[in-house]
Amino acid sequence: MSEACGADRPGDATIRVRGLKFRSGGQDLLEIADLKIDTPAPTMILGPNGAGKSLLLRLMHGLIPPSEGSVRVGSGGTAQAMVFQAPILLRRSVASNIMYALKVQHVARKRREGRLNELLELGGLARRARQPARTLSGGEQQRLAMVRALANEPKVLFLDEPTSSLDPHGSQQLEALIAKVAAGGTKVVMVTHDLGLASRLGEEIVFLHHGQVREQTPEAEFFERPRSQEARSFLSRHLVLP
Ligand SMILES: Nc1ncnc2c1ncn2[C@@H]1O[C@H](COP(=O)(O)OP(=O)(O)O)[C@@H](O)[C@H]1O
Ligand SMILES: [Mg+2]
Repeated sequence: MSEACGADRPGDATIRVRGLKFRSGGQDLLEIADLKIDTPAPTMILGPNGAGKSLLLRLMHGLIPPSEGSVRVGSGGTAQAMVFQAPILLRRSVASNIMYALKVQHVARKRREGRLNELLELGGLARRARQPARTLSGGEQQRLAMVRALANEPKVLFLDEPTSSLDPHGSQQLEALIAKVAAGGTKVVMVTHDLGLASRLGEEIVFLHHGQVREQTPEAEFFERPRSQEARSFLSRHLVLP
């Protein structure tokens, strides 16, 4: 019984970073002694340009190897996925883009059609199924990239500024989709410059500065009483007070 439930036990989406260094050109671009991400609701990674947010996400997703230290996502075999700032879509229809992902992720042939329809529906793309993906609006393309990333039913989903090129309406719709995915039990770890979105969706904030984690703070506390001087000055530069 406990064996059978093992893969789904709470904590299977826990991310643990230890003694992590990423060095390039003789510089330590990232240096994180110990970071544990284990809240079920979304974690938002904030920080100035060049702080190392994208690097950290890529390291956590295993796209680049650390110079030192380790990253562990869940129990090792945990399904994870990542969506980038600019989606890379196949020159095919919306449906084929999703179908291709379902095949690559070895979803059983007889389940693919049903799963395709679920994902189209989830992304608000059902009416666009036959349309070439490249002709979608920016917001629709990003929603397609999101639902395509869900093909392997990831326990952890990394998002690198997915709303940064979208207009307010596109951004709102993507935010609603992210909220739905998170409510469905996928752990979302997201980099964003949109502090409103970070505050609405985030349960906790990881604040990066010069390649280091300056604080990891519950969302409400971060925006009211940031612990670090760096976060205070970051917020004072970014929050437009009425
Ligand atoms: N693959 C890489 N190899 C070497 N240096 C990199 C790599 N990716 C990013 N960098 C450098 O690391 C620093 C942090 O970049 P990045 O993580 O993209 O910052 P941001 O917080 O804006 O996402 C920058 O100085 C960038 O030039
Ligand atoms: Mg970045």
